[in-house]
Amino acid sequence: MSGGMNMSASIPATPAKPAMPGPVHIRPALELQDASVVFGAGDKAVTALSPTSLKMKSGDFLALVGPSGCGKSTILKLVSNLLHPSSGLVLVGGKEAKAKELRIGMAFQNPTMLPWLTIEQNIMVPLKIVEPFKKTFRQDKKGAFRDRVHALLRQVGLQDFATHYPWQLSGGMLQRSNLCRALIHEPDLLLLDEPFGALDQFTREELWQIMQNLYLDRKPTVLLVTHDLREAGYLANRICVMSARPGRIISDEPVNIPQPRDIGMIYSPEFVEMTQGLRELIAQVRST
Ligand SMILES: Nc1ncnc2c1ncn2[C@@H]1O[C@H](COP(=O)(O)OP(=O)(O)OP(=O)(O)O)[C@@H](O)[C@H]1O
Ligand SMILES: [Mg+2]
Repeated sequence: MSGGMNMSASIPATPAKPAMPGPVHIRPALELQDASVVFGAGDKAVTALSPTSLKMKSGDFLALVGPSGCGKSTILKLVSNLLHPSSGLVLVGGKEAKAKELRIGMAFQNPTMLPWLTIEQNIMVPLKIVEPFKKTFRQDKKGAFRDRVHALLRQVGLQDFATHYPWQLSGGMLQRSNLCRALIHEPDLLLLDEPFGALDQFTREELWQIMQNLYLDRKPTVLLVTHDLREAGYLANRICVMSARPGRIISDEPVNIPQPRDIGMIYSPEFVEMTQGLRELIAQVRST
């Protein structure tokens, strides 16, 4: 793939912005400097990630694609400080990640809602544990915080399900709630690890559109891991391809399509050509 991709797209109406009060927060730029991860030692050492460098600007939406086991989830764990690099550095806002309190939102393939809490209460969980929201949780949970949850639920079409329990919702509805929970504390950095992987194609496309609206409203920095090249092309403004395990980034290209993007665009010849290029590159690295 070379030179990114340019095409015009028909532009759907921008949805109304919900009122989302919150503190002004400096957004981090994100950087990996030759960061590698090795598990174990000696004969049993497994290199999960070869030295990898990556820079993200605030508000970037980057999709990470590559063969299974190449280290995509490992990169997310490095960035979220769940894992420390064996060599190299992870910098957030110019500082080492471990030295900084990050405000991160995460959504993975499995929504893992707490079954004894309603959807509204599940979405509020980050507000209960993340500062500065934690301080005022007791006073605000029935006022400002509940309004915030309801605004998000409205935006994903779940306004009538706030007081339902997780087992009363479908897989697609749970994943929509999961996105609300990932965004409720206004994260600077949103980490998505195959969040739409378990859904049928129609629900997936519906959620891509919801995700696009949520992103355009808030413009967090987003790192999306996916195996779905159409998902990467529709949502991201940059796509990085990784080599087979132990992975590193072998291609980093912009997606120069104006946002918001129309979902019908994914069936256009230019878009199909782009995803085919990515597919061939991944097939190539899988076989080497
Ligand atoms: N805790 C661990 N101990 C040992 N090896 C690990 C550990 N976690 C991950 N690995 C190995 O590191 C490599 C990269 O794993 P990672 O989960 O990042 O892959 P991935 O690109 O996300 O794959 P997939 O697309 O299948 O989710 C894999 O080979 C995996 O077996
Ligand atoms: Mg993974």
